[in-house]
Amino acid sequence: MAGLFITFEGGEGAGKTTIARMIVDQLRKEGYTVELTREPGGVDIAEQIRDVIVNKDNTAMDPKTEALLYAASRRQHLVERVLPVLELNGIIICDRFIDSSLVYQGIARHIGIEKVYQMNLFATEEIMPELTIFFDLDPQIGLKRVRDNNREINRLDLESEKFHQEVYEGYKTIAAMFPDRIKTIDASLSVVEVYDQAMNLIRKYL
Ligand code: TMP
Repeated sequence: MAGLFITFEGGEGAGKTTIARMIVDQLRKEGYTVELTREPGGVDIAEQIRDVIVNKDNTAMDPKTEALLYAASRRQHLVERVLPVLELNGIIICDRFIDSSLVYQGIARHIGIEKVYQMNLFATEEIMPELTIFFDLDPQIGLKRVRDNNREINRLDLESEKFHQEVYEGYKTIAAMFPDRIKTIDASLSVVEVYDQAMNLIRKYL
């Protein structure tokens, strides 16, 4: 497949969205065709699935149901949003992808990395990003940022500190499992410094 598929990963409040927007602006100024999108969501059907997933009233959500919903959302988003950009030889930056499921569902919800990975292969047909940037940030700092920024609190934000700590440890585990694809940056630094780290990595793939 032509084009360049990049994903950003990390816990809540790690700054992925802010940095992604800055990078897209810069690359567009330089003349690249680049699109920014996010999971779960990004296209209408996937956004509808997202609403079910993040709804605070859905306290009865079973972990495997949740994993399947993420995979369903991923499939729709891949077909409608990611593949068309790659087919036109463009760059697509996606805020979360399969690694979020490996970590949140596989590790933090205890389904198992391998089971979640296998289940996702049906959705992705083994299409993987060329580069995944892990925004490494202590979850306590990330959650404080979310609270301070007054971002809307969703069902996932309401999880215990232990859950967010497991997510954080989970990211470090999968970063070690896939060292060629997943590159770690220090997300505790200033916005400019985090941007520079991410951009330097991306430039190696342009
Ligand atoms: P967001 O807040 O970054 O938009 O993501 C919504 C939440 O969904 C976030 O807590 C991470 C979670 N998530 C999963 O648990 N599994 C997944 O596969 C994805 C894409 C997100």
